[in-house]
This record gives sequence, structure tokens and C-alpha cells, in this order.
Amino acid sequence: MGKEMNTFFLKPKIYFGNHSLNYLSDLNVGKVFIVTDQTMLKLGMTEKIIEKIKGATFKIFSDVEPNPSIETVKKALECFLKEQPELVIALGGGSSIDVAKAVLLFYHYMKDMPDTKIHFKKPLLIAIPTTSGTGSEITSYSVITDTKNHLKIPLIDERMLPDVAILDEQLTITVPPSVTADTGMDALTHAIEAYVSLKSTEFTDIFAKRSIKIIFNYLLRAYRFGEDLDARGKLHIASCMAGIAFTNSSVGINHSLAHAVGARFHLSHGRANAILLPYVIQYNSGLCDDTIDASPVAKRYTEISKMLGLPSSSLKEGVISLVTAIQFFNKKLNIPLNFKECNIKENEFEKYIPSMVEDAMKDICTTGNPRKVMEKDFVYLLKWAYNG
Ligand SMILES: [Fe+2]
Repeated sequence: MGKEMNTFFLKPKIYFGNHSLNYLSDLNVGKVFIVTDQTMLKLGMTEKIIEKIKGATFKIFSDVEPNPSIETVKKALECFLKEQPELVIALGGGSSIDVAKAVLLFYHYMKDMPDTKIHFKKPLLIAIPTTSGTGSEITSYSVITDTKNHLKIPLIDERMLPDVAILDEQLTITVPPSVTADTGMDALTHAIEAYVSLKSTEFTDIFAKRSIKIIFNYLLRAYRFGEDLDARGKLHIASCMAGIAFTNSSVGINHSLAHAVGARFHLSHGRANAILLPYVIQYNSGLCDDTIDASPVAKRYTEISKMLGLPSSSLKEGVISLVTAIQFFNKKLNIPLNFKECNIKENEFEKYIPSMVEDAMKDICTTGNPRKVMEKDFVYLLKWAYNG
């Protein structure tokens, strides 16, 4: 058996900074298909895009919901196939970008069929995130929800990577504080999981570490002062950098569990991640079963603490410092410290533990986790994260 090859790639060309949306003015395209949601439409964001692209015709699909469903992807796909656009613009949070990416993936599947009826060229995909969290503009992941079975399905395929990402912080100043908090903690989870992942490399470490540093420096500022363009701009970049890190390494069981709990109890993805993060770090590092001193994962977490200037004279101190810092962030961001505080009844939570564990075991994110996880570990983690 040969040695497994490592790769690191950067695909979308990134335009970033205040007014980077002006990139759109230079485009010369005919048919444009915009994938977005009702909020973007109401806030006039869609109009901002349309104004910039002169001479084009537009079809707007604005039915994307949070935690987008398979049905929504199907509807968007139908609309897309009818339009045959030259350009697809995904405008919004991770949900809109994920739907546009899934549409593109199904386009590829259908086009590659031997008896295909699809003969138009692959359109350009431009992702314009309006929240700073998912990093979806730069990743080959798209998470779609199977609403009937309360299941989140992460699709992973490089063909979904956007061609261009525009990170204009102007678009993020209207994001309400609770969404800033949830999405910011999602980005932090991406960066931390990417850093400790089994698939991390020197390349991904750079992006993960820098992203963590920026989020620690600017998230509370953006949460308190939503119109602080400096803080917004930094966070927008950090979220994208965390995306670069995890799409080239992986996330881990924090995401598997967040998918399972989020799909069952309709929690926002970032919030579920934020609640789980302190528990998962303690588990992965071996802090909760006294295997920490021999743990290479604890060493990685401690490197993060050191970089942040947190007390870390031993592995134990380094891990505890990181966990405490994250709990402090959650408190300041008004994020509950456990699932019990999310108005989830105990008997309801207990009832669904077996199915959530099953979903988390099957979740593709589990394969990247730095510690091998058994079913009983997932049960333990879920109960712990519920009660605190
Ligand atoms: Fe995430």
C-alpha cells in the first residue's frame, strides 16, 4: 500500500473588503439565477446585486429556509433547469449557499447521465455570504436536511466549490446579535476542529490558527456593536479562513452531534456547535477520563491556548484554559451552556438519544475526529451536554 497523499487546494477567487461587491459591475452576462431567502429580499440585498449587473436578466429563487430541505433543493433545481443561466449567485447565509451548491451538484449528476437532456454549459457560481460563520463560500460541503427523518445530510464534492466568493462586510451589518453569536461560534468550531483533525496539515494549521485568533479578538465586538465595520470585516475573513482549514482537513464529532441534535430539536447549527464545544474538547483531550497526559489531541488544544496567551504550563492547564475561555464566550454571547437551557424537555431528549447517536455515528464528520468514538461515548456526551 502506498502512502496516502495529502492535498491542499484553494479554489474560489476571493474578493474581500468593504465595497468588494463592486466586482459584480465588471461582469458581462445574460441570464442570472439568484438563490436567496425572504429576508435578503426584504432587506433589499437582492436589489443591490441586480443594480450592479447591467444588461442581464434575472430569475430569483427566494424560498430558502434555515436548515434547507431536500424539497427546497428540488424546487430550486427545477427553476434552475428551466432558466439555464450563465451565472448562479448564492446570496445569504450558509443555507442559500448550500442550496445553490447542491443544485450545481445535481446538475453535474444529471449532465453526466448517458441519456441526459441537459446540454447547457456549467454556469459560473458566485457565493456572497451575508453572515460570518459557515464558510460555505469556500468549502466543498453542503448540508441538506431530510425533514421527514430529522436528519442532516452533509454532501461533499469538489464540483460544488464556487468559482468566486465575495466577502463584503457591508452586507453583514444588519445581522442581529444572536445570529452574529451563533455563526461566529460555528466558525470557531470549524477552526478548532480543523486544527485537531486527523487530516490537519501545516497548510490547514495556518488558516485554522489565524482564524481562531481573529474570532477571539473580534467576535464580542461585532456582537455588541453590530455596525462596527472593522470587526465585521475581520470576522468575515476569519469565517472564510476557517472554511479553508476544514474543507482541506475536516471537522469532527462536534459537528456530527450538532447535526443530530440540531435536526431533531430545530436548534440553529451554530448554537448547537457552541453548546457542544466545551464538552467535546474535554472528551477528545482525555480530560474527563484521565488519559490526558498521553493524548496527542490535548497537545493540539494546548497549542491553541498557547497561541491565545492562555495559561498552559501543562496539557491539563492548556485544555482547561481553552474550555474556560469558550464557556466565557458562550456566556457573554448569551448562548445557553447546555441543551437543558434550550427549552428541550428531558424526557424528549432522552427519548431521542438512541436515534441521535445512530445519526452521529453515521455522520461523515465522525471520520475526521481525532479520537475514536464508540456509541457509549456519544451517549455520554449527549447526556453531559444536556445536563451540563
Ligand atoms: Fe458548521
